[in-house]
Amino acid sequence: MNNRTHSSTAKKRKLKAAVFGTGFVGRIHVEGVRRLGTVEVAAIAASDPAKARQFADEVGVSRSSGDYRELLSDPAIDAIHICTPNHLHFPMAKAAMEAGKHVLCEKPLALTSVQAQKLVRLARERNLVNCTCHNLRYYPQVQNMRCLYEAGELGEIHSVQGTYSQDWLLYDTDYNWRIERRMNGASRTFADIGTHWCDMVEHVTGLRITSLCADLNTFHQTRRKPKGSVETFAGSTLPPAEYHAIPIDTEDFGAVLLRLGDKVRGAMTVSQIATGRKNRLFVEIFGTKGSFAWDGEKPDELWIGRRGSMNLLAVKDPTLMSDEARIYADLPAGLSEGYDDTFKQLFRGFYRTIADRSVSVVFPTFEDGLRQLRIVEAVLESSDSRKWLAVK
Ligand SMILES: NC(=O)c1ccc[n+]([C@@H]2O[C@H](COP(=O)([O-])OP(=O)(O)OC[C@H]3O[C@@H](n4cnc5c(N)ncnc54)[C@H](O)[C@@H]3O)[C@@H](O)[C@H]2O)c1
Repeated sequence: MNNRTHSSTAKKRKLKAAVFGTGFVGRIHVEGVRRLGTVEVAAIAASDPAKARQFADEVGVSRSSGDYRELLSDPAIDAIHICTPNHLHFPMAKAAMEAGKHVLCEKPLALTSVQAQKLVRLARERNLVNCTCHNLRYYPQVQNMRCLYEAGELGEIHSVQGTYSQDWLLYDTDYNWRIERRMNGASRTFADIGTHWCDMVEHVTGLRITSLCADLNTFHQTRRKPKGSVETFAGSTLPPAEYHAIPIDTEDFGAVLLRLGDKVRGAMTVSQIATGRKNRLFVEIFGTKGSFAWDGEKPDELWIGRRGSMNLLAVKDPTLMSDEARIYADLPAGLSEGYDDTFKQLFRGFYRTIADRSVSVVFPTFEDGLRQLRIVEAVLESSDSRKWLAVK
């Protein structure tokens, strides 16, 4: 770096972020933001002051609060990361934008498409940078699939298929706020992980899911709720006296048939009770010339299928990727890039746009979050009515 570059960089103010929520994904956001180097995590909000302080001390942040509204009045904070249970996304995002903050909100963007639509409108009215955290599109091989498809590798797409399967809610004693409709919303498994699958398929293919037919099921009609709280993916069991039974009205499993425009067909499943499967996000795309298969548990590998020649298992290698895909691969071949890195890549785009509003938006926005909620609502309605439905 020459002196001129150095002095102009030194003059640049670091952007400041506040992270709301100190659970599983809040911690990942703090780490991801810091990896950018251009943004400071300036404040933390949690559900009570002691919890906020404890987490802030652990990660070395000076300001903390048990009331997120307090942080919104701080003019030094540029952006808010919303990493709280789903029912808080709408009020927090709304309040943050009303206070003039840019917002990066975890998925699902809100509990309903009506709420999400309001957020889209507010962001537009206030001219604020907005992002829904569909980070999983940022695995290097997912970006590679998109670029290879655009370069003609598959020919015309016939069909897509796959699954997002987990087992962390397999037992009736497995419990988390997501089980409760009040905090989670009407769809659990599809909204939580199915939306990541749909976002990825739409991102790679450029196609849109236009209609669907869904069959959801709640295998555990009753679950035994621990008397204390349990963190995401905790996987712990308690003595029987520590539970009470409650009825469940959000789905454990879903199977969905898809149409993506007039020609392309698809099928996918979601499950949080898929015994032995931890985070199996699997996408297959079949075209007239070739096909792709990608498994989120082996993210550096991309299977490329052929009819007239040998199939290929391509290992991530930035030197063999197009310029457009390579920018999402920070490490050389042989060094894996995983889940944490997808957040960093998404945050990089978000903050680049905040720093320079003339930079084009390359990340999933509130519009994308709204779109996923429209798919979720079609899934719920289709499963109830046992009918094919158009996605509005
Ligand atoms: N993009 C991804 O890959 C990904 C992964 C996991 C979770 N998520 C999303 O992130 C969100 C949080 O999920 P999680 O798994 O981290 O949950 P979690 O239960 O681990 O953490 C939620 C946190 O929110 C805090 N909180 C609750 N009320 C609050 C309030 N009023 N003010 C401030 N903080 C409050 C809780 O104390 C807790 O620390 C969900 O919307 C989920 O869908 C996204």
